[in-house]
Amino acid sequence: MKNKYHIKLYFASSFMLLFVMLSSCKEKEEKYHSIIDKIEVESKDYHGISTSSDIYLEDLKLIEITEGEHTFLIPERKSKIKSYSCIECHTEPLEKLQNNKKLKEAHWDIKLIHADKNTLNCATCHSGNDMNNLKSLTDRKISFNLSYKLCMQCHSKEFEDWKGGAHGKRLGGWAQPRASNSCVDCHNPHKPGFETRFPSWYNTKTEEERK
Ligand code: HEC
Ligand code: HEC
Ligand code: HEC
Ligand code: HEC
Repeated sequence: MKNKYHIKLYFASSFMLLFVMLSSCKEKEEKYHSIIDKIEVESKDYHGISTSSDIYLEDLKLIEITEGEHTFLIPERKSKIKSYSCIECHTEPLEKLQNNKKLKEAHWDIKLIHADKNTLNCATCHSGNDMNNLKSLTDRKISFNLSYKLCMQCHSKEFEDWKGGAHGKRLGGWAQPRASNSCVDCHNPHKPGFETRFPSWYNTKTEEERK
């Protein structure tokens, strides 16, 4: 009984040894120029798991941006803006539109709750001469798809964090390619603050003390 088992074990281990020898012969070290090459090639289909975020991003319309050392993807925006294209109505100067009594009040649903009125008004970010684009503080044109460039003028700290991936949210997986939500995917530019919700101020400690 014991002997038979030993023989089986002997055959099994010598078979394994042969297998290891054969496979290591097949995969000569020189197959890869460096360890980085080896990781890159072998991780492509690691145990059938793809180490790429591509499949999670398939249905998203994304654009590539480069800010400093960081190149990543953000969601396209124009197609999500209800009243885009603006120049469907904004064909004439604003004063003309505003003094036209026949027109109904436009954008009544937009109330600016952002900063002090002396700091920000509609014309800080929108230009009457080119409504289809946003406008920088130095009167440069900024696409609605790249509106983070508008925000970064005043919120450089959050922008730096966002660029590096510390502020905001990553889309898809942690593997490359990197795709991240842009500022307007989370913050409404007209009312960027978040309202405090019930659990965020609920203090269980004081509740304990009350008992
Ligand atoms: C359906 C027509 C229509 C569309 C589309 C439209 N606007 Fe307007 N908008 C108006 C009219 C009319 C006025 C002027 C009357 C008013 O302010 O009520 C106006 C005024 C404005 C003003 C000035 C508001 C103020 O109080 O000074 C801004 C800024 C503006 N629009 C931005 C935009 C932007 C940006 C878009 C596109 C994303 C857009 N509009 C799309 C009709 C439109
Ligand atoms: C801090 C900059 C900023 C200010 C100030 C600002 N906007 Fe905007 N506005 C934006 C950005 C950015 C977008 C695009 C938002 C997006 O991508 O959804 C936008 C979008 C819009 C749109 C399109 C919204 C839609 O969903 O169709 C209208 C209309 C508009 N703004 C009008 C105004 C008016 C009127 C004012 C003044 C009361 C104003 N904005 C002030 C930055 C600003
Ligand atoms: C011209 C300067 C300027 C621009 C451009 C600007 N902001 Fe602001 N933002 C301010 C100021 C000023 C405040 C108020 C600062 C404070 O309370 O600390 C503020 C406040 C905020 C807050 C905090 C709101 C709160 O209630 O706590 C958020 C979030 C924010 N902005 C996001 C954005 C986003 C997103 C954009 C781009 C669409 C943007 N800002 C563009 C000047 C700007
Ligand atoms: C995935 C969502 C998300 C994205 C993307 C995002 N933010 Fe925020 N941001 C938040 C949340 C959540 C807070 C915290 C709000 C709170 O504490 O009430 C915040 C806070 C802020 C504040 C207030 C900070 C303070 O100290 O009060 C500013 C300003 C701001 N964000 C600007 C930006 C700018 C500019 C961008 C783009 C470069 C951006 N955010 C992108 C979710 C986001």
